[in-house]
Order: sequence, then structure tokens, then C-alpha cells
Amino acid sequence: MAIERTFSIIKPDATRRNLTGKINALLEGAGLSIIAQKRIQMTRENAETFYAVHKERPFFGELVDFMISGTVVVQVLEGENAIAVNRDVMGATNPKDAAEGTIRKTFAESIEANSAHGSDSAENAAIEIAYFFAGSELVG
Ligand code: CMP
Repeated sequence: MAIERTFSIIKPDATRRNLTGKINALLEGAGLSIIAQKRIQMTRENAETFYAVHKERPFFGELVDFMISGTVVVQVLEGENAIAVNRDVMGATNPKDAAEGTIRKTFAESIEANSAHGSDSAENAAIEIAYFFAGSELVG
């Protein structure tokens, strides 16, 4: 298995409820190392650019409003098979479909306020990491 990096966001519903540490414990418990992390307030432009792939979807406007409704924690996670491992520990997008013990089953409020985002492919991970982090911030 390859050592990979993936991009993660702890979303405003989770930072608002002070769940950053609990979510980080689940990520680290799954074998992922948090090699970069910062708490930021996304601008509308950030959120629209980040989620541009969803811009034709009916939920796009509400998703952007939600993502700028509070601070988020953006992260780079590293580990063996990190992209798939992170998606497993997050659980399904809709918390109603997420497995027991996953971040979204445990903490998410709804399909929109679903506590965490994780890259869905190596290609998107590289794009998403580069959007939020300078190379000098990735110290391994
Ligand atoms: P995320 O993994 O960050 O990618 C897109 C986000 O859109 C998703 O998590 C959800 O938070 C949000 N979203 C809101 N409504 C829907 C929906 N009906 N289907 C999929 N994603 C949705």
C-alpha cells in the first residue's frame, strides 16, 4: 500500500460544537497523521471555488452559505491509503447512511451539516491541498 496525502475539512457544524479534538482523535485512531492543520474563515469565493464541481446542483447555494457560516479547520492527512481510510472513517455523506463509529454517524447533524469533508481521489486531493496550503506548510 502507498503512503498518500488527502485533504480534510472539519466543517462549521463541528467547530461550532467544539468537536475538533474528538474528530481528530477518530482520524488519528484510524492511522492518519495530521501533517498540516489550520483554523480559517472561508470567504464566499473560497467556498464557491472549492465546491465548483457542484455548482449546478440544487444544494450549491446553501452549501456555500453553510461553509462560510463559521470557522472551519482545514487539514492535510497522511498515511497508508489515506484517501480511502479517511473516507471510511468519515462515513457516508448522509449521516443516516453512515456506519456506526464513523465521524458522520457520530457527529453530523444533516447531509449538509455533515461535520467533515474528505477528498474523493488522489487527483482531487492534490488540487484541494494546493488550494489551501503552501508547500512550505507541509512539513510531514
Ligand atoms: P462533501 O463531502 O463536503 O461534498 C459536497 C457536500 O455537499 C457534501 O459533503 C454535503 O455536505 C453537501 N450536500 C448537501 N446536500 C447534499 C446532497 N443532497 N447530496 C450530496 N451532498 C450534499
